Amino acid sequence: MILENATRKSDRHQALIAQADEALKENRGTLDTTFRLNYHMMPPAGWMNDPNGLIYWQGDYHLFYQHDPYQAKQGPMHWGHAKSRDLVHWEHLPVALAPSEDYDKGGNGGQGCWSGSAVDHNGVLALIFTGHVDGKKPEEAQCLATSVDGITFVKHAANPVIADSPDEKRFGFRDPKVWKHEDLWYMVVGYGKDGLGKGIIYTSSDLLYWEYRGAAAESDGTMGDMWECPDLFPLGEGDRHVLLISPMNIAPIKNLYLSGKFDYESCRFEKQHMEQIDYGFDFYAPQTLIDDQGRRIMIAWMNIWGAAMPEQAHGWLGAMTLPRELTMAADGTVRSHPVPELASLRGAHVSAASITLAGSGFTAVDHVQGDSLELDIVFDLSQADASEVGLRIRCSEDGSSYTEIRYALAEQKLYMDRNLGGAGDGGVSEAPLAPSEDGRLQLRLFIDRSSVELFAGEGCVAITNRLYPDPANVGIVFFALQGTAIIETLDVWELSSIW
Ligand code: FRU
Repeated sequence: MILENATRKSDRHQALIAQADEALKENRGTLDTTFRLNYHMMPPAGWMNDPNGLIYWQGDYHLFYQHDPYQAKQGPMHWGHAKSRDLVHWEHLPVALAPSEDYDKGGNGGQGCWSGSAVDHNGVLALIFTGHVDGKKPEEAQCLATSVDGITFVKHAANPVIADSPDEKRFGFRDPKVWKHEDLWYMVVGYGKDGLGKGIIYTSSDLLYWEYRGAAAESDGTMGDMWECPDLFPLGEGDRHVLLISPMNIAPIKNLYLSGKFDYESCRFEKQHMEQIDYGFDFYAPQTLIDDQGRRIMIAWMNIWGAAMPEQAHGWLGAMTLPRELTMAADGTVRSHPVPELASLRGAHVSAASITLAGSGFTAVDHVQGDSLELDIVFDLSQADASEVGLRIRCSEDGSSYTEIRYALAEQKLYMDRNLGGAGDGGVSEAPLAPSEDGRLQLRLFIDRSSVELFAGEGCVAITNRLYPDPANVGIVFFALQGTAIIETLDVWELSSIW
């Protein structure tokens, strides 16, 4: 059925894909590797933004992504493709989608196969994406492509399967995320109208004919004018659901999650709690999948539109965050935890205990330094009289350049300050963090060559930032301000490269 009349235009599409793969092969040898990451997913060369089509399919995790294989700039968007057995080691596959049709190619502005998702439809791997052509009427429409081998994709002859938005005047109609509930496919699409971001719902029994069911949720006026890359999924007990969105035009906020209830009859979402899923600067367009163990795994683009992006001058742009498992706490907050599989990257290990930090100067720990590390730090704050505790990473020899992570005890806030961090944008990220009942503060950090991801508060808080220090800056020092504090335990592992 789905595949039958889908092959008509596939030759042209395949020729464009072969051309894109050829360009990548040439370009990947010419990259400046200064800021290339050791254990994060990156494009082989060229530009990458949003994760697309995340799916656990026939024993592999598949990750597609917005991609320009020809240049490290946003151009006509292709879908890049990689797969992994363990969410840690990634293998690049041929480009999956290239702009080739009048609904995804043309004009002089933004164009291409924009963001979307993947589902398994009776053993067929189906990609649902937005065809975008700036200035075309309509500019955005929802489209389908399918594959039986998980590598070669054919765009459907019935495209676009949703030809136009419900309203003529709207600000964005893109990024379909599709999932199945009982016997029906549900699609949430990012939408904006009259200054309000929305997640609108369609349903279908065959992925081809879609019925519009209205808005699941919309902005109350403070949540952005367009919700990019919505993802709506069940999490935790009962009928609890989470709606993840990337709202436009409420800087500095770039991501939000709403937790609450989704009613599959009325297609309405009732919000009970709202918060950021990550408090860093470089975290956008998160998408999730569910795997064979029933885990809800989230990956996001580890960059942000409008940032300085120093790696662009090096022939590439873009990375994905580490995969994080999402869980729902009883109070409706969503927690995120780096997946345990990441432990397979661990090499040399240093551990220390009972390190007293006094309010003057910085404390280094023997052999604790580097640019490809996992750190697990437990501060005992129960007897601390310091006002702040923290550490500096990626420190230069002379101490003038570093990124600082600090927890302010009275304020109950966690900060990451990269104003002296090197090239790229500065800025201070901040997140609210209540101390745990036993007085411990646990910080878990993943440092890669041009990134840092920080997790705290049993998954309540994550801060993700790109950093572009001089590669020689690998120092790490710990501190307490205006008093003393104790590091109860410190564990540091060198993490190996996956490339
Ligand atoms: C989000 C986004 C999506 C769009 C894609 C284009 O980063 O703007 O809304 O589909 O990127 O590459």
